[in-house]
Parts: sequence; structure tokens; C-alpha cells
Amino acid sequence: MLDRKGCVELSGRKRVYVTRRLPEEAMRMLKLKFEVEVWPEEMPPPKKVIIEKVKEVDGLICLLTEKIDREVIEAAGSQFRGISQVAVGFDNIDIEAATERGIYVTNTPGVLTETTADYAFALLMAVARRIAEADRYVRSGRWKVPWGLMMLLGQDVWGKTIGIIGMGRIGSAVARRAKGMNMRILYYDIRRNEKAERELGAEYVDLETLLRESDFVTIHVPLTPETRHLINEERLKMMKRTACLINTSRGPVVDEKALYKALKEGWIWAAGLDVWEEEPTSVDNPLLELENVTASPHIASASIATRTKMAIMAVENMTAILEGRVPPNLVNKEVLKVRPPSR
Ligand code: GLV
Repeated sequence: MLDRKGCVELSGRKRVYVTRRLPEEAMRMLKLKFEVEVWPEEMPPPKKVIIEKVKEVDGLICLLTEKIDREVIEAAGSQFRGISQVAVGFDNIDIEAATERGIYVTNTPGVLTETTADYAFALLMAVARRIAEADRYVRSGRWKVPWGLMMLLGQDVWGKTIGIIGMGRIGSAVARRAKGMNMRILYYDIRRNEKAERELGAEYVDLETLLRESDFVTIHVPLTPETRHLINEERLKMMKRTACLINTSRGPVVDEKALYKALKEGWIWAAGLDVWEEEPTSVDNPLLELENVTASPHIASASIATRTKMAIMAVENMTAILEGRVPPNLVNKEVLKVRPPSR
């Protein structure tokens, strides 16, 4: 095996490149088994750095900010075995190209489900009750009337109708929270979730019915060609004028230009956005001028415990790949036909 300078590496340990520092525990686990190199900065490494690294290393641990497209994958050396993403979504990785080259791709499902659902529900509540706006109101000195009967009026949540687009793990976890709030639960997905129907009383409806009947619409689908701009002008027009839209999935699922019009012209009441078409979104994004937008920087899974679990899971996935086992969270199962696991 070659080391960083192209010399033969005598230890024979496999090499992993990590595109950002991981929590200590995960780093320790990784270093016990492998020779590890980490991109030292907070900003993502430029693509050309990743291209250079995959030529030499055996595995890559990356975040969703890294675009692992066909060009990167085709640059990988023949020793390169796998990409372990520290996230549940993997729309930044060209799965088809990886599969063709026999490269395993893994993600971190499950461990972030409840944390992400907590956040989606927190954002829903914040939007309904204008919490971020109220915070700005107090801090900016606009609070003059001691108690205003009509001050910062919001929407009730208890007993209202929630529409969940995507009833997978996270959607179901949001539904459990909604049940606790005595909400009617509608959902739309490409497949039915009978467990959610049975256990939570969720009603399977078509997307149009969901949009027309829900007081809160919350999105929990992956980004795919089919879900890009799923929420567009036509669909925003179907929603209630009092409805709130919550997005903690991927920004491009919502057409931001259409959403701006919807919020500005009052087709819908408010939105809570944790994800954006471009991340980081520009401070000049017109959506940020609107008081009825509650914004956050893609932090739905960001609890200390969960981010640590995600990193550990990514290390476990990488370890399995490089030890010649089938990794627990393999995304591209067809790769097993192209390259069966081997040491
Ligand atoms: C975060 O957005 C994730 O996909 O884990």
C-alpha cells in the first residue's frame, strides 16, 4: 500500500480520508484500526482535494456538503472500497456511478430519527406561535404595550390537522408527536405505511387532499429527481391561507421562488425552513426579509448525543467495508453483485 507521499506503507493498515473532524470517540475508534487523515478546516474541502485523496486511500468518510459525483468516483484508485456518509440523506453522492465501480456507500439512518422529529416539531410550534419573531420583537425594543390583546397572534396546534409528506422513519416520529397534540394526521407517500395507520390513526391521502386539508404541512422525503420542487406554485396555491409549511428534509424539495410569492401574497400563513435550495443560503435570500419565515441552518439532527452517534455509526460502516463485511447501512445493495465483500 502507498502512503501519502507515494512510499510503501509498512504497517499495511488501510487508509481512510475524513472530510471534517469527527467527535473524539469516533476519531479514536477509527484510528485504532486505520491510518487516518482528516481535512482540518471547518469549511468543506475543495473537490480537487477529494479527487486527489480517493486516488490513494481505501475509504472516504464524508458529510452531505461534499459533492461526490461521477468525476470524484471515477478518480478513485482500484484499492478504493467505500464512502461512508455521516448523514441519513445521500443525494450528494452519485450512487449509480459508485455501484458501477463496485464502491460501497453507507449512511446513518435511525440514530437521528427522534432528534430530527423533535426539531421538526419545535419548528412547527415556533412558526405557529411566532417564537422567533417574538424574540426579535423584544430584543429590538418594539415591545411597548405591556400586554397586547392582539399582539403577535399565532395559530393553535392542539387538535389541528397535520399533513406529513413522507411517512418513513422521521415522518412517523413526527406523527407520534402530533398524536400527543391530539392532531388529525394525514400523510402522503409513494407507499403506504400501515403501521402508522394502525398505531397512530394516520390517514393515507393523495398529495392534493393533504395540501388542501392540513393546517401544518411537514416534509420528510429524500431529495430525488421526483421530489425536486415537489412543493411548487401550483401546490402552494392548494394550501389553506392559514397553513404553515415546515421543511427539515432537503431545500430543493420546495421551490423557494414560489414559496416567497406564497408567503408575501398570503397564499399561506408562514414557513419554517431548516433546509435551503443553496446552503448556506445567502443573507440576500428574499425569504429572509419576511417576518413569517422562521429560518435555521440545517440543524435538525444537531444534538450532541445524536451527532456523536452518527459519527460512530459512520465509523462502524467504514470498518465493516474495509474489513470485508457487508456494512450495516449499505445504501447501494446492488454493489454486492459488482464487488462481493472481501478483505
Ligand atoms: C441531514 O440532513 C441528514 O441527512 O442526516
